Amino acid sequence: MSGRLKGRLIGLGVTGSIAAYKAVELLRLLTAAGADVVVMLSPSATRFVGPLSFAALSRHPVETEVLDLLPDGRIGHIVIADSADAIVVAPATAHFLGAMANGLAGDVVTATCLASSAPVVVAPAMDGDMWTHPATVANAARLREFGYHVVPPGAGPLASGQSGTGRLAELPSIVDVVVAAVAGRAIRQADPAARPPLAADRPREADLVGRRMVGTAGGTREPIDPVRFIGNRSSGKMGVAVARAALDRGASVTLIAAAVEGAPPEGAHLVRVETTAELQAALRRDVIDADPPPDALVMAAAVADFTPLQPADEKIHRGVSLTLELVPTPDLLAEVAGTVNPPVAGADRRPPVLVGFAAETGGLERAAEKLRAKGVDLLVANDVAEAGSGFGTDTNRVVILDRAGAQEALPLLTKREVADRLLDRVARALDARDAAGQTEAMQESTKARGAEVHR
Ligand code: CTP
Repeated sequence: MSGRLKGRLIGLGVTGSIAAYKAVELLRLLTAAGADVVVMLSPSATRFVGPLSFAALSRHPVETEVLDLLPDGRIGHIVIADSADAIVVAPATAHFLGAMANGLAGDVVTATCLASSAPVVVAPAMDGDMWTHPATVANAARLREFGYHVVPPGAGPLASGQSGTGRLAELPSIVDVVVAAVAGRAIRQADPAARPPLAADRPREADLVGRRMVGTAGGTREPIDPVRFIGNRSSGKMGVAVARAALDRGASVTLIAAAVEGAPPEGAHLVRVETTAELQAALRRDVIDADPPPDALVMAAAVADFTPLQPADEKIHRGVSLTLELVPTPDLLAEVAGTVNPPVAGADRRPPVLVGFAAETGGLERAAEKLRAKGVDLLVANDVAEAGSGFGTDTNRVVILDRAGAQEALPLLTKREVADRLLDRVARALDARDAAGQTEAMQESTKARGAEVHR
């Protein structure tokens, strides 16, 4: 039955038994039941199965080393321990049972179990005599005392050539035990940013060499007085990710940064702005009046929609109440679109590809209208109220709308991957623009030659 583990994060620990290959199929079954699965391999498991199939199927990097840190500096097994709704160890070796029974955390699988308060399901697989050895029997009993769910192995032919009890339990029955173990419990960590990271993003080709891109990022701040401002929750991460991705693909990038968290990307020409008015001036200089104009403008900044009519010159002192009069700010993107589209002057001034962002709450119905009203080529819409998709997160779920009316709904991705998917579209649009420009130029020259002949 699908959906039984919807929204759950399951940590799948694989230890070094010949049955380790079956864990790939178990991963598939857990995923088919709706779970987000992250895999941990003990060092001996890696001698039976490689991490690649697990990484490809789970979309998470596989944890193999207890001492390795995640790329973002977090401790991998602690992230899994704290965010998994359940941990399932399948196959579990006699060594795992012994180590766990004694609280020995020498590898990533035992360390994760020891660090976690999530339910643990253990499916042993081993030689029949190992399973019936008093040590193993005692260890399995000890794990049951911890509250672990031990799924007993089945009987049948074993890897040793003998027949006996020790075969990994049937995979659907392991899934059933996992489902029962999490039933009635709240999802521990719905925010993808608190879960293990998604698999490394696919590197792109240098398809923006020779292109100039202007990007904006972060939230503008509108002064109330010299010490206070009206701001917004934008972290600037999306705009910075676009700038970084464009640089990696060979573009030269001007990043107009309002309030952004963290370091701006190295290699970008950085223009710092604070207010909407400063952002407007920067856009006029670097896009509208720039000669030649940039090839693309990606407007990820969260621009204030209102600004105080008259910011006070001096700090406003504490009083009974305060009424601020706010006036709307100009729509900067619409202003750029209105000026560069159609081009201001000269046939060689090709209009930049314009990309807007639309932060919505509760549905994306208004996005198509925004694309039209702002006169942009692409609009990246996201529902900021959705978990993992809002301000300050490292992930985003977006829909890319284009002028032709098409909508491309992307899955939950890292902001970097969203940036690359967007730049895939921008690169295609620029190639199409160049091709159209060449056809036009050829037609012009044919016409001119025709006129020459008739003279
Ligand atoms: N934007 C802009 N100038 C503004 C406000 C927004 O250029 N004064 C840009 C943003 O950078 C973004 C796009 O317009 O690329 C959409 O921003 P959003 O806040 O979603 O839309 P608004 O135009 O502000 O419309 P509303 O507040 O009604 O949703």
